[in-house]
Amino acid sequence: MGKQHIVAHQAATKSVDKIPVTREGFITGMGIAAATLGAAVGLGNIWKFPFLTGANGGAAFLIIYLMSTILIGLPIMISEILLGQRAKGDVVTTLIKMAPKGQPWWLIGIAGILSSFLILAFYTEVVAWVFAYVFKAVSGVLLSTDPDTNMAVFNQLITDPVQSLVWQWVVLFAIGCIVLLGVAKGIEQTTKWLMPILFVLLVVVSIRGLTLPGAGEGLSFLFQPDFSKVTSPMILTAMGLAFFKLSIGMGAMMTYGSYYRNDQHIPLTATGMMVGDLVVSLLAGIAIFPAVFAFGFEPDAGPGLLFVTIPAVFASMPLGSVFVVLFFVLAAVAPIGAMISMLEVPVAFLRGRMGLTRLHATLITIALLAIVGSTVALSNSTLAHFQPFDMTTFDFYDFLTSNILLPLAGLFICLFVGWSWGFSEMQQTLSLSDTRWNRYLTIVLYGIIKFVTPTLVMIILLSGLNLL
Ligand code: TRP
Repeated sequence: MGKQHIVAHQAATKSVDKIPVTREGFITGMGIAAATLGAAVGLGNIWKFPFLTGANGGAAFLIIYLMSTILIGLPIMISEILLGQRAKGDVVTTLIKMAPKGQPWWLIGIAGILSSFLILAFYTEVVAWVFAYVFKAVSGVLLSTDPDTNMAVFNQLITDPVQSLVWQWVVLFAIGCIVLLGVAKGIEQTTKWLMPILFVLLVVVSIRGLTLPGAGEGLSFLFQPDFSKVTSPMILTAMGLAFFKLSIGMGAMMTYGSYYRNDQHIPLTATGMMVGDLVVSLLAGIAIFPAVFAFGFEPDAGPGLLFVTIPAVFASMPLGSVFVVLFFVLAAVAPIGAMISMLEVPVAFLRGRMGLTRLHATLITIALLAIVGSTVALSNSTLAHFQPFDMTTFDFYDFLTSNILLPLAGLFICLFVGWSWGFSEMQQTLSLSDTRWNRYLTIVLYGIIKFVTPTLVMIILLSGLNLL
């Protein structure tokens, strides 16, 4: 091939990149569902949901979380996917294309990219601990019924700068490889395999939990509400969890929406993802809480629930050495789809706006993540004295994203769809997939996006942050 030919070929692929029709995308409807559900399911279900539910009093928290998911999460998720599917661009490009000239709605996209770095910085570190725990579980190190002994194992891991960094790099390397393979071969194929495996593992572990003597107390903790525990910071936490769980407010759903086929039914896919994600969270709760109560542990062990209490619970049960391995393999597999959905946000941006190749975009993002991530990996050792707002960098990034940045971006996405993009554009995009799309449902959905969701988010945000 002559040099000229290569240049011509590159020019052709470059211009093809800008034409929506032949843009990279998901191939099958099943693949779209798997990738979308894969983005939702992750440490949020296995780590965050159980410890937050445990620390905030169980069922009352669960109910508020459920309401946030339906009234706030679902409408925002649908809005994000719709915008992405219509514009076929990365977060920033999508908002620039859809907004009237000169209005700075694209700033939502910039906030999303910032969130993706901050979340991945601590998320990859938790996955790093899980990876390390898979090995510890296999070698039997984790089998002590005494939480203090397990605490020592955990502390030894998180205060060791070398292990913390190296395991995080392993995680970054793994997700970098998947994203390098592209949308169809990387993201779609991986999640299509992961989701069923995850589900089977989870069902096995929950059946074990349910068949333990004394499981009932754990179930009533999870399902019998005590409303005296409800406070406005707690409501903010529940809403923040809904944003985190459904992967919204970052542009991940917008980016995935841009890879959707035009005939994909968005409200149906989004609702399916919401229900599927909820089932996985509840199964994780059923796997964990009955066992915690059956063996007399405390449900409110905080983030350590996964790394300190859970191993002690497994050590106390018959066949525990098998189940503890299964459990941590599950916890290592689940977050992969979620991490690649976050990584794809800056990668798509660097490709779409800066014209980089997928290879360069991925390499740059992973390199930056290794730097930002190290501020979390080293937060229990070398950088322990660095405490923004009296929090560890870990807690700070988590709080700043889940409780502030994601809800703010979600709020503005609703305001954009409701007040700028408007009803007829939304109706038109919805009917791409189904010309019989129900007009009344669209009106209801539009009304919720325009009035209900933004009002709720604003009130919860202001009162949760004590600004009201
Ligand atoms: N939902 C994922 C989880 O529960 C995390 C996640 C993936 C996410 N993509 C996101 C959170 C985008 C916020 C925004 O583990």
